[in-house]
Amino acid sequence: MDDKLLDKNLIISAVDNKLNHKNRKSQKDNLIYKNDHITIDVSRNFIDKQTLSRLFKLLKDIEIKKEITKLFSNKFKSKSENKYVSHIFLRNSQQGEKTINDMYNMYDSIRKNSLKNFTTRKIKNIIHIGIGGSNLGPKFVCNALKDYSTKDFNINFVSSSDTKELDDAIKNLDLEETIFIFSSKSFVTKEILINLDYIKKILKSKFASSEIVSRHLFAITSDKSTAIKKGIDANKILIFSKNIPGRFSVTSALSFIILLQIGKANFKKFYKGIIKMDNHFKRTKISNNIPMILAIISIWNINFFSIRNFCVCPYNYRLKDAIEYIQQIEMESNGKSSDIYSNEINIDTSPIVFGQAGTDCQHSFFQMIHQGSQDIALDFVGVIDSNDNKVSSNFLISNLIAQANLCFYGKGSQKNNKKIRGNNPSNIILMNSVDPHSVGNLISMYEHKIFVEGILWNINSFDQWGVEEGKLLASKFINKINQSNRKDTDKIILQLLKTKF
Ligand code: F6P
Repeated sequence: MDDKLLDKNLIISAVDNKLNHKNRKSQKDNLIYKNDHITIDVSRNFIDKQTLSRLFKLLKDIEIKKEITKLFSNKFKSKSENKYVSHIFLRNSQQGEKTINDMYNMYDSIRKNSLKNFTTRKIKNIIHIGIGGSNLGPKFVCNALKDYSTKDFNINFVSSSDTKELDDAIKNLDLEETIFIFSSKSFVTKEILINLDYIKKILKSKFASSEIVSRHLFAITSDKSTAIKKGIDANKILIFSKNIPGRFSVTSALSFIILLQIGKANFKKFYKGIIKMDNHFKRTKISNNIPMILAIISIWNINFFSIRNFCVCPYNYRLKDAIEYIQQIEMESNGKSSDIYSNEINIDTSPIVFGQAGTDCQHSFFQMIHQGSQDIALDFVGVIDSNDNKVSSNFLISNLIAQANLCFYGKGSQKNNKKIRGNNPSNIILMNSVDPHSVGNLISMYEHKIFVEGILWNINSFDQWGVEEGKLLASKFINKINQSNRKDTDKIILQLLKTKF
């Protein structure tokens, strides 16, 4: 792709846009695109319609539509893992409907206390225990849709291997009225198993019998047999396909906690929002295709202007957990330096993703954005109808637009310490409101943006060999420390500091 970016016309438009964007008399309003409940304004980028049309050619050159057809027909492969990538196919097919029916049946059983070997008391509290893709997506959606909660259950999320988090989550809860959903695609993730063993001990000390303990344990996984071996009753396990990549599993059975929180009617709306954006991505021509436009602008910023920092600022409190969700699907998917054939590549790929909800971000790192030395691209996520309190929602959206303008156009001054540097491009992403359908749109939009970036970079967005190595190395250190008795652990740790393995 690198050589294609060196097209002379692209170079000319890059130089022209970078040098002249600050002289623009008004906003370029022809760079606003809308689909369903999402509107994006990409005019605060180093582009114009002509540049975009040249960049769209890159997408045509890589035959992006063919790749999309493969993705939707379950023919797209994660080469390094030799398995198909099925999350999009499954959620747009009958097989996806079967998973949802399984979820509905489990949901009804929990609400009616009709599960075999289940607690006799009405369930009031649910703790979702998962990490990475088994946590960030469900947690983001549940917290975003708090105002759509059926209030049937008090829901909490635990991901840390520091069991203090689980202690905090169960403090003041009546464990008779509490169930624990262990969400892990592999069911071998150490953080999950540490929490599983820990909660079993706590429940055993309260209920004495293992049979009663198992009444409170559920699992969502693609490895049912391992979950059963770990003490989860077979009738308390929801399964999903091994071909669903962890960080793209928010629409698999892992969305069960979302169903428990918002109920069937709103869950259907969430799902509909996802499918509507899926269809937009599949059917819309490149020049109006929102995920493709976001992806090509991302490549333009990273590979042409070397902007390696990407900041996500949702100007809405309910959307604050979107940041960690986007951070994982971007950096774990596209944080790669070899192509799909395992050849080293010499272009930049995933940016460093960080962020904070607005306007908190303005009281934290925006000083550096406005007067620091780094170029930063941003996504400002705003909500048109965000809050009954108009003072609050008007303040938020006004600050969002002001910051986007200042980031991009800057502000001159005679005094250098007063100058705002500008040159920080941004996309403004507006949602109608923070409702199930719009949140579904947003999830699908980012998933497809990441997919298109990966195709443009010719990398595998669906494996994560880098994280596997860390797990293996840590297990060596764990064994060393576990062999030591308590009194000389500190000596062992100091010794380990000197080891490299
Ligand atoms: O971070 C590595 C990773 O494998 C993620 O891709 C995944 O979402 C997370 O760990 C949890 O894995 P599991 O769902 O198998 O517990």
